[in-house]
Amino acid sequence: MYLYPKWIRAWHVVNAVIFLILIVTGLSMQYTDKENASYVVGFAKAVRIHNFAAIVLVLNYIFFVTGNLLTKNGSYYGIGRKNFMSDLVKQFKYYSIGMFKGEKHPFPVTEERKFNPLQKITYVLALYVAIPLLIISGLGLLLPEITITTFFGISGLILTDILHITMGFFLSIFMIIHVYTCTLGHKPTSLFRGIITGYHVSEEE
Ligand code: HEM
Repeated sequence: MYLYPKWIRAWHVVNAVIFLILIVTGLSMQYTDKENASYVVGFAKAVRIHNFAAIVLVLNYIFFVTGNLLTKNGSYYGIGRKNFMSDLVKQFKYYSIGMFKGEKHPFPVTEERKFNPLQKITYVLALYVAIPLLIISGLGLLLPEITITTFFGISGLILTDILHITMGFFLSIFMIIHVYTCTLGHKPTSLFRGIITGYHVSEEE
């Protein structure tokens, strides 16, 4: 099944590389202090690389959202089904018990359903909630003059920073879990092949 068109594969590879760069440079800035003056890449260099990578991330994100608005791919992200919660529980049970007993995937991939309910909710939360908040808070830190000075007596810059590192933390955890769940296809390498070649191999094939 051809499920990953060229544009989504191009978006994904740029997104994955940029994420890794942002995590390494973000951690470098976080843990650099007077004693630890050069944590991984050093503060000044980390800031430069982080800012550049963030601009690439924003452009790539605009490309992703536009692609999803203009093509059929956006329909895979729709969460509107009544039994979404019970489907989510089914998928969760499969990941925690069923798959170890050799049961079949409860929501096999079809042309109409590329993602199982758990993938869908995590992709929507990551792509349509966490990344926009990450970008908005990042812009607030890049351009402090546009950030509100105080909010209920607390520095606006500190609140923006907390939001930014919290989203960065959640997205880093998302990425680790995402890469793990991507090993749970028909074979451990099947889903990785899919996002490189464009073709998904299901259990039946
Ligand atoms: C080294 C890092 C990464 C690897 C190895 C990886 C691997 C994969 C694989 C194998 C798939 C295909 C399986 C599927 O459709 O679920 C996929 C799809 C996807 N990944 Fe990743 N990923 C990485 C990073 C990321 C990051 C950082 C994000 C977002 C923050 C992300 C978001 C997505 C999305 C939204 C899809 C579905 C795209 C679509 O078909 O519309 N991935 N990834």
